[in-house]
This record gives sequence, structure tokens and C-alpha cells, in this order.
Amino acid sequence: MKKINIAVLVSGGGTNLQALINAQKSGIITSGEIKLVVSNNPNAYALKRAEDAGIKTAVCSKKELGLKFEDELISVLEDNNIDIIVLAGFMCILSEKFTSYFANRIINVHPSLIPSFCGKGFYGLHVHEAALEYGVKVTGATVHFVNEIPDGGKIIMQKAVEILEDDTPETLQKRVMENAEWIILPLSVEKVCKELKGE
Ligand code: GAR
Repeated sequence: MKKINIAVLVSGGGTNLQALINAQKSGIITSGEIKLVVSNNPNAYALKRAEDAGIKTAVCSKKELGLKFEDELISVLEDNNIDIIVLAGFMCILSEKFTSYFANRIINVHPSLIPSFCGKGFYGLHVHEAALEYGVKVTGATVHFVNEIPDGGKIIMQKAVEILEDDTPETLQKRVMENAEWIILPLSVEKVCKELKGE
């Protein structure tokens, strides 16, 4: 049966995108195929990772498109027959109009154990700063469906990571990526694609 068409939305370095590309090469992802990478930032290194892997790219800049941003994003995704959308370090909050258009077809990776350290303002390094400031001893990553509530959709997978005495936000971010995000994001994408195919 035909593979599920995946689009990955990015804004920055794209290490989670790289984990997805690697998982496709190594056979962890077999039910879907990354057809398109869209960045809201024209300078994102993630775009280079996509080009190196031979994946089509597009840029949709919220700054330049303003109110037309989501309409443009929807038409790029529709033009490429995208079935599921993976937010992999995509730093724009999407409106209810967008999330309901692709209901149950958008997934996100977040660098904490939701419902801790999530929602508006919790993104990237800030999440790890907040975890260290609070003094939790365990954090991790969550992959979830995206709905109109930031980081509020149904959880698909989570993985815990221990916090060490001498952690900085940077060392913690790196360990959460290596030991949780890069593992559960590809596994979740395969799970969702497989379910969509009805297998
Ligand atoms: C990742 O840690 C991802 O979980 C986080 O941004 C980083 C992007 O890194 N996303 C969020 O905080 C979303 N709320 P990457 O560009 O190297 O994948």
C-alpha cells in the first residue's frame, strides 16, 4: 500500500528532522515518507539537512506573509498531497483554524514531560531553564497530537531523562534530545503512519 506523505515543519537547527531522515534510512520509519520540509525561517540549518537528503523544501515566513501565513502554509501542504505534519522544533503557534483543518494529523515533539513546563512561552532552551529552576530531578520529552491548546493534544509517547547535579540548560537540552526526542519522535511518526494506513 502507498506510503503516508509526511511534511516536517522546522525553524532552526533541525536535529529532530535529522533523526527522522536517519530513521527513514535505517528502516525505523517504513509506513511513511518525508516528502516536504517547510521552514518559517529562510536561514534555518534544517533546510540544508533536507536538501542534503534530497527532500523538497519550502519557506513560509510569518514575518513576510503576515495574516496570509497559515493560508499559504495550507496551500503548500495541499499542493504536495501531505497526509501528516510533524512539528520538529517549529517555533510558531498555529491557530485553531489550522489545527482543525488537519485534525489528528499534526504531531509535535516537546522537550519536557507534559503537563510540566509546557504551553505558551515554553520552547527550546527556556523549557530546560524552567525545569532546572524548579529543581525537578526527572524531565524528558513528549510527542503529542496538536490541537488548539498549545501542547494540549493527546499524548502519543513520552520518555523520561534524569537531571544531573551539574546540569546547565545546554547540557540538559542535549541529553533530552539524544536520550528521548530523537528516539520517540521517529517511533511516534511510524506508529501514526501505520495507524493511518489501517495496519
Ligand atoms: C527541540 O528540543 C524541540 O523539542 C524544541 O525545540 C528544539 C528544536 O531543535 N521544541 C519546542 O520547544 C516546541 N515547543 P531541532 O531544531 O534541533 O530539532
